[in-house]
Amino acid sequence: MSALAQIERLRLEELVDAVEDLEQTALGHLFGRERETARIEAFATSAGRGGGTLLLLGEAGIGKTVLLDAAATFAATAGIRVLRAAGVEFEADLPFSGLHQLLLPLHAELSQLDPPYRQTLNAALGFSEGVAVDRLLVGNATLALLALSAAARPLLMVVDDLHWLDRTSNGVLAFVARRLAGIRVSFLGASRTGEGGFFESAGLLEIELEPLKERAASDLLSAHSPTLPPDLHRRVLQAARGVPLALLELPATLTASSLEYAAGRPVLVPITRRLTALFASRVRKLSATGRTLLLLAAMDGTGDIRILRALGNDSDGPEALAAAERARLMCVDPSSRRLAFHHPLIRSTVVELSTAEERRRAHKQLADVFAEQPDRRAWHLAEAALGPDEQVAGLLEDLAHRILPRGDTVGAVTALVRASELSPETGEKSRRLAQAAFIAADVRSDLQGASQPLADARTVDREQQPSLTAAVTPSHLLWEPFDAALWRVVGDGRDGTALACGLNAQILLGRECWSTGQWTQARKLVDDAVDRCLANGYVLLAWAGRHVQALLAAARGEYEIAEQAAESMIQWSAARGVGLVQAYAWQIRTLTALGSGDFDQAYRQASKISPPGTLAARTPCALLVQLDLVEAAVRTGRHAQAAAHVAAARGTAVGKLSARLALLAGASAALVAPDDAAPRLFAEALATPGIDRWPFDLARVQLLYGERLRRTRAIKESRVHLGAALETFRRLGTQPWVQRAANELRATGETKPRHHDRDRDTLTPQENKIAQLAASGLTNKQIGERLFLSPRTVGFHLHRVFPKLGIRSRAALRDALVALPADSR
Ligand SMILES: Nc1ncnc2c1ncn2[C@@H]1O[C@H](COP(=O)(O)OP(=O)(O)O)[C@@H](O)[C@H]1O
Ligand SMILES: [Mg+2]
Repeated sequence: MSALAQIERLRLEELVDAVEDLEQTALGHLFGRERETARIEAFATSAGRGGGTLLLLGEAGIGKTVLLDAAATFAATAGIRVLRAAGVEFEADLPFSGLHQLLLPLHAELSQLDPPYRQTLNAALGFSEGVAVDRLLVGNATLALLALSAAARPLLMVVDDLHWLDRTSNGVLAFVARRLAGIRVSFLGASRTGEGGFFESAGLLEIELEPLKERAASDLLSAHSPTLPPDLHRRVLQAARGVPLALLELPATLTASSLEYAAGRPVLVPITRRLTALFASRVRKLSATGRTLLLLAAMDGTGDIRILRALGNDSDGPEALAAAERARLMCVDPSSRRLAFHHPLIRSTVVELSTAEERRRAHKQLADVFAEQPDRRAWHLAEAALGPDEQVAGLLEDLAHRILPRGDTVGAVTALVRASELSPETGEKSRRLAQAAFIAADVRSDLQGASQPLADARTVDREQQPSLTAAVTPSHLLWEPFDAALWRVVGDGRDGTALACGLNAQILLGRECWSTGQWTQARKLVDDAVDRCLANGYVLLAWAGRHVQALLAAARGEYEIAEQAAESMIQWSAARGVGLVQAYAWQIRTLTALGSGDFDQAYRQASKISPPGTLAARTPCALLVQLDLVEAAVRTGRHAQAAAHVAAARGTAVGKLSARLALLAGASAALVAPDDAAPRLFAEALATPGIDRWPFDLARVQLLYGERLRRTRAIKESRVHLGAALETFRRLGTQPWVQRAANELRATGETKPRHHDRDRDTLTPQENKIAQLAASGLTNKQIGERLFLSPRTVGFHLHRVFPKLGIRSRAALRDALVALPADSR
């Protein structure tokens, strides 16, 4: 028979007796708590009258737990169903472990919930995998489950030591605790004062437990230590200062080391310190096995009796456990068959007494005991790791990806940061840290949280810039295609195993589709991703998606949509100093301005991203808008600035990074070159292998080339390039650019359009009306007043009208409208 089985068989009967004795004294006779008991008992049955929330606060040993027990017993006798859970110090902070404990008895009712609630709770509580967790949804699902169960029988939730409950459960319970009125559910919690913790208790009803009054304390002491001589009785009373735990525990030490006591310790040692010292002296008297057992139990936190296995089959584990029981340190709880400390202070004391090496070894042993529980195992191994260890780092990374969809961002970030610390290889180190930074920034939109991992990642990755930048910014796309990998991540995200990563991948794919001219697909991907980002509070990630949406809108001449996005990005990022999002907005405005022929505006916006003559570091858009900036500068007569920008790009050889950048850099150089050199440079840029992949960029360069050729009277050749550009713009559906190319082509004397495309090139009735009013001399505001539009909307319509009419200013409107054939007005 195994040691474990032996213990279980031998010890239980004895233990039941011992615990029952204890319970009788504690539960039956609460000294000096008449008022509190009355109040708590009244509260305990409040669920039957609608429900509510009450918190018990007080120092260690003051009697919180015993009052919770009393409330639970009272409620149960009154026919109320009681659910219980407790936070445990040192327990692995795994998402929703506390909520799991609390709601486990309602498992059967779970199946009656509506599918979204059911799926969410199942995933959060770890009953099933595959559904991404939304924190708000978990809160609402919990409420729904409680209400459902309470419809049959009122409920009382009793949660002890809230300050140690896992973070995610705390968040949900704080949410739930505020919304119980009327659903026949009550929440009674206890928390240690001064422990902090995560529970948001502000505004909830509280009872602060005071020390017992002298009389009650004396009665309690007499009841438990009836043989204590009067002078010692007096001294214990004085030392315990009304804290029940001290009144119960101090006499035991007195008899054992009364000399030490009589020698007169300073009376004003805080009571918790005094109790800790007392428990410490008891722990020190145990055998080595006994201390190891206590440490294992303390670090495990679950009370799982299987930890005895860690001591080995032939050890003196059973005797050690018995000795710990006799010393009133630990016992096996007969109902749950779990190891329990007599008081949580003993657990803290045991850990405090241990050395770092002992704790490390305990974690290692616990990892072996819980080999079949991957989350717990990974957590223990991480605590046990001494130095870099790729296997543990990998396990932690997996852990992060399991807990992220369960809604524990902080946990995921912590795990990834630790995984990075444990990574032996620089590449892996920075990749994991970058993931942590990304999740921290995105998911929590908490940039404070992100900045540290990000800063670390930069230090780590100094030599490996591309991989890091690739992981944390959209500059991914500057490098070679990586669609296949992304699609896999998107798939994972949809399965709920890595929601944020999946959404991120989906947006990157959308961006890739935008860059490669698959605009319908791009819009589908980002529209969906943005919706889901917003639903889950992934704010920064949502901006990345809206960036692509707005670029698409700008390219298609939907300027109002584009500008709205740019405006909200500026507002959001200004308050937070998020440069990346600001740059998104400027890029959108640059494209809008280029499309509408407002080159001065295009120059100003592009210069904000990266001033002429520099390529701003770590600003991916800077590389992509280089041609925009150079074109806008050339067209507005800023030749020096244009040349400086081209020189900067040449200096850093960005063209070597990818074919796309080679195209953009080459065309920029051609733009600033004198007429005799330009054609060769354009031709070279257009000869870059692989540039078909970026049709919009390619067509824009063809347009620029065609324009230059036309100006230098190479009319026939210019038509070839302009025609090709026009074809592509039409296929993409980018109206402003169709117009530009069509106008250029017309100017070469080619009168017959290649396609009869009146729908695209003519004014809509609304545009026509606005154009007529503008031509008559009205301001945007006046036009807006007549047509019930905002002046801004009017402005956008006009922006669209100008390129269609091939003009650049309001002054030219009237002539252009007169020249227009009647059927297109
Ligand atoms: N008013 C009381 N009368 C008798 N025993 C008490 C009283 N309050 C607490 N105790 C006992 O004191 C010990 C510590 O109380 P506990 O409820 O565990 O404190 P806390 O939860 O605040 O740390 C327990 O053994 C408990 O039974
Ligand atoms: Mg307690």
